[in-house]
Amino acid sequence: MKKILVTGALGQIGSELVGKLREIYGQDNVVATDIRQVEGHPVCETGIFELLDVLDYERFLAIARQYEVDTVMHLAALLSAVAEAKPQLAWDINMDGLVNALEVARELNLQFFTPSSIGAFGPSTPKDATPQDTLQRPTTMYGVTKVSGELLCDYYHTRFGVDTRGVRFPGLISNVALPGGGTTDYAVDIFYQAVKANQYESFIGAGTQMDMMYMPDALQAIVDLMEADESKLVHRNAFNITAMSFDPEEIAAAIRKELPDFKLTYKVDPVRQAIADSWPNSLDITAAQEEWGFKAQYDLEAMVKDMLAKLRVKLGDEAKY
Ligand code: SER
Repeated sequence: MKKILVTGALGQIGSELVGKLREIYGQDNVVATDIRQVEGHPVCETGIFELLDVLDYERFLAIARQYEVDTVMHLAALLSAVAEAKPQLAWDINMDGLVNALEVARELNLQFFTPSSIGAFGPSTPKDATPQDTLQRPTTMYGVTKVSGELLCDYYHTRFGVDTRGVRFPGLISNVALPGGGTTDYAVDIFYQAVKANQYESFIGAGTQMDMMYMPDALQAIVDLMEADESKLVHRNAFNITAMSFDPEEIAAAIRKELPDFKLTYKVDPVRQAIADSWPNSLDITAAQEEWGFKAQYDLEAMVKDMLAKLRVKLGDEAKY
């Protein structure tokens, strides 16, 4: 992995991954792409940036050729709640975009990464210690595209020899870019509202357990998996990974260690609650640990401390607590 093209570079993961990759591999060795350009955004201003609609295969191929990249990290996709609102669009972007990215990788013999998700599981999947290899019958369009994506990536490896790799991310929590349209977003929103108002109204109900991870661990996992010795990878795509599992009450309790008067109330959104109810409570991550040494640094307590501290700085005058 020496020269990397990133799609969806202005999204939730890309906004931070691009900076990390530029630090590790050099500013001129990361080609950030997105369907939009944001003036002044570090992703667009501190290195190579190209406008790219991942549905435009010819331009995708041309950019990869022009910069002679050896790796594609394909992040452009719609998240679960948006995908439920616009299922046809989600299919187009999540699947056709992925096929284009895989075709570019096949054509130019590139290493390939794309994330799957806890959304690739469904109500019939075992909910606790969800195994790496298990039943996957998701009931959301997001999940349908994620399972199809996992299978496609496996197919491109076995059929065409493309070095495809991937993880099933849990909910990702960060203080840089907002997720925008996911089901696990409540676990990000709660921090913004804690710092601004010392209270939060959750759209996910009490008792709903979901896997989560702090963004620095997610970024490190991508780098570690991509740098891992290929001969040790049995699964390649869609490794279960997670750092913690909690419900709204548990994250609120962790926030109360810093903000004792923090108040949590509920106004459950039935659409996102149904999505959350169809996902696992906690994943088994043994395969990722054994095959490429996955390990998260942040547990709930460490993440809460860091999130609150960083958001107080980021939100400036808006931060009242
Ligand atoms: N965080 C994502 C979502 O909620 C799950 O992959 O859509």
